[in-house]
Amino acid sequence: MQSLFVKVTFVAFISLSSAAIGYGGVTSKFVRSEWPSVDIPLNNEAFAIPKGHNAPQQVHITQGDYDGKAVIISWVTPDEPGSNKVHYGTSEKNYVHSAEGTVTNYTFHEYKSGYIHHCLVDGLEYDTKYYYKIGSGESSREFWFQTPPRIGPDVPYKFGMIGDLGQTYNSLSTLEHYMHSGAQTVLFVGDLSYADRYQYNDVGLRWDTWGRFVERSTAYQPWIWSAGNHEIEYMPYMGEVTPFKSYLYRYATPYLASKSSSPMWYAVRRASAHIIVLSSYSPFVKYTPQWFWLKEELKKVDREKTPWLIVLMHVPIYNSNEAHFMEGESMRAVFEKWFVRKKVDVVFAGHVHAYERSYRISNINYNVSSGDRYPMPDKSAPVYITVGDGGNQEGLAGRFRDPQPEYSAFREASYGHSTLEIKNRTHAFYHWNRNDDGKKVPTDSFVIHNRHWASNLRRRKLKKHYLRIVGGRTATI
Ligand SMILES: [Fe+2]
Repeated sequence: MQSLFVKVTFVAFISLSSAAIGYGGVTSKFVRSEWPSVDIPLNNEAFAIPKGHNAPQQVHITQGDYDGKAVIISWVTPDEPGSNKVHYGTSEKNYVHSAEGTVTNYTFHEYKSGYIHHCLVDGLEYDTKYYYKIGSGESSREFWFQTPPRIGPDVPYKFGMIGDLGQTYNSLSTLEHYMHSGAQTVLFVGDLSYADRYQYNDVGLRWDTWGRFVERSTAYQPWIWSAGNHEIEYMPYMGEVTPFKSYLYRYATPYLASKSSSPMWYAVRRASAHIIVLSSYSPFVKYTPQWFWLKEELKKVDREKTPWLIVLMHVPIYNSNEAHFMEGESMRAVFEKWFVRKKVDVVFAGHVHAYERSYRISNINYNVSSGDRYPMPDKSAPVYITVGDGGNQEGLAGRFRDPQPEYSAFREASYGHSTLEIKNRTHAFYHWNRNDDGKKVPTDSFVIHNRHWASNLRRRKLKKHYLRIVGGRTATI
């Protein structure tokens, strides 16, 4: 095992070095699924229901405004609506402030949801730990979160990326590894619960178990949500034809703060990053609301304030796995030229249940009647990273296309999560961490040079194009 890893590491390093003269990347032969791809049983402690009558459960928070001075706190009360209030303050057990939220519920076939609360808590101080309490009496529950630092070009911040999580033992492994990463906010790239793999009442029940499953993280730090195909839940056989019904009732997003007309696509700024969330399953062609919105949002990006421009979507634009091959081509045709023109640093996607990273390439000169027909190296292009390997019940996507395309730098069919550790306006460390025998194993990593601020560095650093740091292989790109 160790020797295999060393060998893969060595081959990977050599191949990355040769990438500059046009060779493709690495297909890791390591395929690991420690646990069978089955959902954790309903009565497992991973889904434990908190004690007490009508105790709040499925607690989750997300950023509540454009710049990080607000959170939306959401929870479910199972028996009756109960209180909509969040009590909060900057010291434990001393809740000097309160905010009033809303409550709603929905039906899905014959399933009746619990009472779903959403409460905007705004006017917070930057870089401050807040404690909060929800529910009443002996059933009340207390949590905490940390607000991000004020927006600024050199503010360090660590994001985690998780996709296609589901609720299997592999999902639990990914979640626990992520929680030890030290990352401060999750950028979630779609496909949450996989409840749509069930029928009738079990769909709603599996949304509830997932909410309780992820609460260990979601109650304490924001998860920035984007939707995948498993959120669509278009199920005419049981009379459910409203797309994204469960997702939209349960998971709020701060879309109004970025002038979006839909919770499915929006943007937030956090620390030194401008994060754009797109919806692969909402209209995006020219003149649609999402297209208009993105056009305007990209104009607002100010690399002097937020140097790091990150895009999230569910369906990858560049993917060389047999699973979902070419499904991102329609969005590539519409948005890729904008990503290149605006020098997006990195695009994260999910959907494919494996890990893959591209080189900086673009295919913007291609059109149906002329032009280059293959992605070309492009220093203004984003790196495309697929992290649909959270660990859901559908299992791994183990069949990569052969030969590996030149644009594909590294790919491996294992479960895991990624982190992006922003250091300052010019540099960030990126890691993909494979779940391996219950340990978090750093497997693919690189130092990322900011696309806006890289130009001055580019000449000086050219000769040091590849270097290694502790914990796996590292390239600079
Ligand atoms: Fe998906």
